[in-house]
Amino acid sequence: MPLVALEKVSSAYGMSQVLYDVDLTVEPGEAVTLLGRNGVGKTTLLRAIMGLQPVSGGRILFDGADITRLPTSRRARLGIGYVPQGRGIFPHLTVEENLRSGLSALEGRPGVSARIPDYIHELFPLLNRVRSRKGGVLSGGEQQQLALARALVTQPRILILDEPTEGIQPSIVQLIQNALQRIRAELNVAVLLVEQYLEFAWSVTSRFYVLRRGVVVDSGLTAGRDPHSIAHLLNV
Ligand SMILES: Nc1ncnc2c1ncn2[C@@H]1O[C@H](COP(=O)(O)OP(=O)(O)OP(=O)(O)O)[C@@H](O)[C@H]1O
Ligand SMILES: [Mg+2]
Repeated sequence: MPLVALEKVSSAYGMSQVLYDVDLTVEPGEAVTLLGRNGVGKTTLLRAIMGLQPVSGGRILFDGADITRLPTSRRARLGIGYVPQGRGIFPHLTVEENLRSGLSALEGRPGVSARIPDYIHELFPLLNRVRSRKGGVLSGGEQQQLALARALVTQPRILILDEPTEGIQPSIVQLIQNALQRIRAELNVAVLLVEQYLEFAWSVTSRFYVLRRGVVVDSGLTAGRDPHSIAHLLNV
């Protein structure tokens, strides 16, 4: 059974429809990438999964249960971790406080301890060194690591990431790539990644979907598929 399944999901801003009958699945422990040009509805789709954007048609299932109408906090507690586009950390809180803010999502989730797991510091050793600094003074790459770490403290079953490499220098991109590979392989956390950077997407995911004007127009396994064969559907 898929961990996450979208069945004919549609979504609109007022009169303007953005997603049309989108079918998409992510299996447990699987990493999937969602590609497409600017404005095709990628962020809208991720927000719909998180309950931050209403769905006008279709259903969203998590572990087989219909979550289409659940509030965001309940989805987080079920095990959906979200790193929004632009990272969404608290600039006036310290790194440590930002990490702790992630833990509040756990209240009421049985079997998960309310402390920051050790593997967070193992994956992102830098965060320990800067833990008393304010989030807002960190570099883009440091903020992205903090945002990832904050989503992981809830021990999610799936991590949803919206353009994590946007505006980040190449050395940090490599670090985030390694962290995502370990998160999937060692922690068995599923990943749903929106990305413009094809080589990065291909290195961390095994399946892809392409959106064009709110419609899935291509999908398949990344292995054996030349990413350049879909470049005409992207910004690149
Ligand atoms: N709050 C909003 N109100 C009205 N229209 C919106 C709103 N947010 C997004 N849109 C529109 O919905 C469409 C899809 O936007 P969305 O942000 O999902 O695209 P995207 O694929 O994530 O783009 P990008 O690659 O630029 O991040 C766009 O046409 C956008 O202008
Ligand atoms: Mg977007």
